[in-house]
This record gives sequence, C-alpha cells and structure tokens, in this order.
Amino acid sequence: AGPAAVIPTPRHRLPVLGDLLSVDPAKPVQKEMRMAAELGPIFERKIVGQRLVVVSGVELVSEVNDESTWAKSLGQPIRKLRGIAEDGLFTAFNNEPNWAKAHNILAPGFSQSALRSYHGSMLRALDGLRSAWDSAAATGDPVDVSRDMNRLTLDVIGLAGFGYDFGSFTKSAGAEPAERPEDTGAEPAERPVSEDPFVTAMSRALAHINRTSNDLPFVRKLFGRKAAAQHEADIALMRSVVDDVIAERSRQPGGHDDLLDLMLGTVDPASGESLDPVNIRNQVLTFLVAGNETTAGTLGFALYYLAQHPEIAAAARAEIDAVAPGDGPLSFDQIGKLRYLRRVVDETLRLWPAAPGYFRKVRKDTMLGGRYPMPLGSWVFVLLPQLHRDPVWGNDTESFDPDRFLPDQVRKRPRDAYRPFGTGPRSCIGRQFALHEAVLTLAELLRRYEFTGDPTYTLDIQEAVTLKPRGFTLLVRSR
Ligand code: HEM
Repeated sequence: AGPAAVIPTPRHRLPVLGDLLSVDPAKPVQKEMRMAAELGPIFERKIVGQRLVVVSGVELVSEVNDESTWAKSLGQPIRKLRGIAEDGLFTAFNNEPNWAKAHNILAPGFSQSALRSYHGSMLRALDGLRSAWDSAAATGDPVDVSRDMNRLTLDVIGLAGFGYDFGSFTKSAGAEPAERPEDTGAEPAERPVSEDPFVTAMSRALAHINRTSNDLPFVRKLFGRKAAAQHEADIALMRSVVDDVIAERSRQPGGHDDLLDLMLGTVDPASGESLDPVNIRNQVLTFLVAGNETTAGTLGFALYYLAQHPEIAAAARAEIDAVAPGDGPLSFDQIGKLRYLRRVVDETLRLWPAAPGYFRKVRKDTMLGGRYPMPLGSWVFVLLPQLHRDPVWGNDTESFDPDRFLPDQVRKRPRDAYRPFGTGPRSCIGRQFALHEAVLTLAELLRRYEFTGDPTYTLDIQEAVTLKPRGFTLLVRSR
C-alpha cells in the first residue's frame, strides 16, 4: 500500500450541507452514474455530514466483494425495508440467527428440481398476460409495459411461491389509474398495478421508502405525519393479508411443492429448528417485494431493447421457432435451450440492472485500492450500472449487444465486472428463478406477437429502490 489518498469529491461542496445540491431525489442512481463518469471509479459525497462512498471500477469492486475483508451491509434503503420485512432473508443482518436458518430451509426451494415444479405456475400466470395482450392486439390499444410486467411477476411469485392467485390481469381489467389525491399528504401508489388492496399498499409503501430513504430529518418532515400514518397502515394491511395466506395453508399443509410448504414443513438441518410464524410472514413479504419489482423491471427493459432492435428480436424469434416449433406451451427444458434469448436478458441486466447496487462494509481497517483509508465500520455503495460500463466492457458500452455474453467473451472479463445479482453468501437466492421467468416470458411474447415501440419514446428510467422504464408502451400484433 502506498500513501493515503483523498477520495475524489464533487467540486462545489457547501459548508454544512456538503453535496446536498448534487442530490437528485427522483433519480439518485442516474445522478451517481453521471458523477462517476466525471469523478472516476470511486468518489465520495457528503450530505449534511453523512458520508457515502460510491465504487464502480472493476478492480475496486473486486476488492469490496472479497468476503475475507468485506461483507454485506444494510444500506439506508434496505434498513428502511426492514420496516416491512424485518429479519426476512434480504433485510436480515449478517449475524441474525434467522438468516442462516431461513437460508438453509429455503435453498432447496431454488434448486433446479424446484424450479421445474414452478414452471406450470409461471405458464398459468402468463395466461393472464396473454389474454390482456390478445385484447390489445385486437383493439390496437398500446400496452403499458411496466404495468403489465409488474402484474405478471406478482402473479408468478404469488402462485409459485405461495399458491396465492393475485389474478392481477382479471381483477384490474379496464381499471383506470387512480388520480393522486390532493393535499392528503399521503404517498400516491406509484402507478396502481391492480385494484388489489395488497398491491396498492405495497407499491405505496415502497414509494414511501424510496422518497424518505435519504433520512434527513428536514426531508422527512416534508413528508408529514399523514404519510407516516399511511405507511404504517399499508404495512399492517400487507401483514394481515400474508398472515391469512399462511393460516389457510397451515390448515392444509403439504403437497404444494412451493416455498410456503418448505417453510411450514422443514427444519434447518444445522440447528434442527423450523421458522417461527412471524419469520415466515417476513419471508413471504420479502419474496413478494424482492421477486416482483426486480424481475418486472428487467422484463420492461428487455422489451424496450427488443423493440429498439428488430434484428435482435428476429434472431430471438428464429431461435424460439427452432427450439419450440408449433404453439403448445414451452416446456421447462426448452427454456434452457434458448441461449440467445438468455444473452438478451444478460445484456439487459448489464445496461440496467434492476437492483442498481448493493452495500458493503469493511470488517477491519483497510486501504481500499492500496490508498483510500477505510477504517473498520466504513461502508461503500457498489453502483452496478456504472460497473457494467467499466472499460473492460470495451469502448461502446451504451450499445445493446447480447453477443457480449457469448462464452468466449465472458471468459475474457473479470467475474466481478458483472454482478447484477450481488455477491457472496448474501447474493440473490432467486437468481435462477428470475432468469427462468424472464426467458420464458420473453419467449412466449416473442413467439406470439410482433411488437413495435412508440418511435417518439426516449428511455425514461424510474427509480423506486429498483429501476424500470416509465411510460413505455408497445403496439402488439398477433403473429
Ligand atoms: C438478493 C437482484 C430476483 C429474492 C438480491 C441482491 C441482488 C438481487 C443484487 C443482493 C442485495 C444485497 O447485496 O444487498 C435481483 C435481480 C432480480 C432478482 C436483478 C431479477 C432480475 C429475485 C427473485 C427473488 C429474489 C425472483 C425471489 C423469488 C432475493 C432474496 C435476496 C436477494 C431473498 C436476499 C438473499 C440473502 O441475503 O440471503 N437480489 N434479484 N430475487 N434476492 Fe434477488
């Protein structure tokens, strides 16, 4: 290690407020990407005394991914999510006993054989999407992509995880988006996915967390007591819906082959204990949040790029038609053969990783990069969309090119250049589930529809803990 160096900071720093003016509350990630492009692979912002170090260069990310010196940290937004999911897998502290217990119990729920058993539920959820798109094809109305992908992924995780049918497409048919209520101080649901009260409560709770996650006292004040009360009510509603699902299943456990059966019916081999009912509720809420927004955002971006690149859509269609001629439902094994389409998903997650980053904290005094002092307790944010534009990706990092994920290309890059599912023991347990769901969904849509985007649309990325395209519509035509 050489002499200590100072981490680059924005140029115009104010006394007391620090870099407050550099905050873009609606699009913090996109703002940080611009700052990283200007300030380099590591930079620091200080907002009213609070220090945030943002890391996005591949060498530095490799270092903070090293489990011997660094570990997952619950950054501000994740800690806020604890208000919903407490010690569920995603929001548990590393040393909380329920993390290891739940991880051991749930791991088999994400094995290949478990995924195979969810395939049918995924197809069933896709029926809802297909009838919605069939009607749109018949009437010529544009489809709201992010809304429909949210409906789909919620139905998938509900059915595959807990045997619960949100019926998002049927319940909400024809429903107009609710207007924002005037002057109630309450958080509007970002965009109602359905009329389902659970869904409304969940989107409003996530929007609230997103808006308040700076956690600056005076910012919090702006959101008022009414919003806080609404937030409490939303969480209470979500809990009671989930408790009902669990209670119903407890009356007839077994035989469902889903995550809920695993949690109710197995013990952790290490401790010999099973999960308590409150923790099971926290896990169900975790999967509903973690498994829904991220996959929906990914599908939205993938459809955006497919519409932008008709030649890529055509290549994907040709692969699907070769692997699965006819129009019977796609089988589990056929999905694994759609290598090109999988690369489309991989490339989508490179440009816009729906979960845009993760936090790491240091376990002992360290010099990051040999020169930036990181005393015990320091933490950093890994900014994934910028890592995924590191120079190791070449000099044309904005272009959408699935061939970057051809095996010989992947071998040329350091592993840490691509981390859309996080790193280490706390990385995404749902990764294979999400990839299967994404490839299956895109395959079903590509083989049944031709779709075109609005030529006047420019990509507008909405940030609400996760990323998704906003206001993106498609015109669909049956093939
Ligand atoms: C953790 C991304 C889909 C469940 C994570 C993390 C990332 C991530 C980056 C690590 C967060 C951190 O280090 O703080 C994604 C993306 C998805 C996706 C991009 C879709 C494309 C899913 C699905 C499920 C799921 C479908 C469930 C069915 C979880 C859980 C964790 C997690 C439970 C916490 C794991 C632990 O700490 O033990 N995900 N995820 N995710 N994800 Fe996903």
